[in-house]
Amino acid sequence: MDAKELQPIKQRYGIVGNCEALNHALDTALQVAKTDLSVLITGESGVGKEIIPRLIHENSLRRMRKYFAINCGSIPEGTIDSELFGHEKGAFTGAIGEHEGYFGAADGGTLFLDEVGELPMSTQARLLRVLENGEYIRVGSSEVRKTNVRIVAATNVNIQNAIRDGKFREDLFYRLSTIPIKMPPLRERGEDIVLLFKKFAMEIAAKYRMPERITLSPEAEEVVKRYKWPGNIRQLKNVTEQMSILLRDTRVVTPEILSDYEIWPTIEERGSLVRVGRGGSEAHSYQNEREMLFQMINALHREVSDLKQQLSGIEKPSLNHDALTPTPSPEERGVVTVVDSYPVSSHRPYASHDATPYAEEYVEESLSLEEQEKRLIMKALEKNRGRRKRAADELHISERTLYRKIKEYGLDDL
Ligand SMILES: Nc1ncnc2c1ncn2[C@@H]1O[C@H](COP(=O)(O)OP(=O)(O)O)[C@@H](O)[C@H]1O
Ligand SMILES: [Mg+2]
Repeated sequence: MDAKELQPIKQRYGIVGNCEALNHALDTALQVAKTDLSVLITGESGVGKEIIPRLIHENSLRRMRKYFAINCGSIPEGTIDSELFGHEKGAFTGAIGEHEGYFGAADGGTLFLDEVGELPMSTQARLLRVLENGEYIRVGSSEVRKTNVRIVAATNVNIQNAIRDGKFREDLFYRLSTIPIKMPPLRERGEDIVLLFKKFAMEIAAKYRMPERITLSPEAEEVVKRYKWPGNIRQLKNVTEQMSILLRDTRVVTPEILSDYEIWPTIEERGSLVRVGRGGSEAHSYQNEREMLFQMINALHREVSDLKQQLSGIEKPSLNHDALTPTPSPEERGVVTVVDSYPVSSHRPYASHDATPYAEEYVEESLSLEEQEKRLIMKALEKNRGRRKRAADELHISERTLYRKIKEYGLDDL
């Protein structure tokens, strides 16, 4: 099915996006819908896994029969077997009557087992049996029952760890994933991020009858496309809703506003995208001030590493910066590494080096992002003896932003 043919399906299910990985996932779901094969949907939290089982059920021959969505992670371990497979009267304390269980109730239909990786081992054994021959036994019974249920399961990628740690049966994993469907993380969806932002901004504006929906400035579009979105679509939706409600003075979201919501690309992401000060020939199109600061920090880091190499007399092998193993992101480490040096040397003894690695041995200090920014501003002010216009020029930020930052960091005395 090509992208055009998927359009009506997307409309019907409110699915926004055109990226290839999403289209592939939808296409696979529609193709397998008419079969009884088990489907395992994988993908990080918040990527939209829950759309798929509904789509499968409603496009299958079972669509007139029952569909149940069960979150395996939210049912207590003590009751999950009885919830899924039913129990007999008196099977345990409190079992006053008999209970059919989802596998009995969904006979002929579809069961969606969300967060299947959370199932206890004993339940996994029962599930494997029902998947293999349609047989199950109610809790407190010895009678083998038959059911005809199509299983669609979902899990975040951690199931691989669960298998490794002996918490998830490998045989069940393979049995469940006859047809695997991978939902892509939001950060890999390029232009879709902007489309989804628009959809959520429009929805919230309509819901609260706002005169105008929020929009992204061109620079902000770049930022959201490069941000890593750990919470995926769920996070994007929440942030868009928050901004729609809280932004009063303007309806245009800028990178600065996004940074108030902690949305900006990591240094590593920038590192592979920008190279500043390498021979001065690389033009760049990064407009916003924070981006410029990040670029400068990157450049400084490499400059100082170069200098250190020069001083120690040890020449490191030439490395292509793009091929470097990334250091953990600032979010992961909670800190950003920075070297305490401001001036950018024009002396380039290792001109053949495309870049110097961000090796930990060169790290002199670990400072928070704010500390880092503050320090750069202080240095620029000191160097220019308090002349703000010059300092701003040197930092590649507007004077207005510099004034704001000076206030923010209490640097008025400099
Ligand atoms: N392609 C999409 N278009 C529009 N909204 C989406 C899309 N995918 C997911 N959503 C929304 O994102 C949120 C998270 O989706 P969900 O299926 O609950 O994620 P998961 O189960 O993978 O954690 C939901 O509010 C859902 O409606
Ligand atoms: Mg979910």
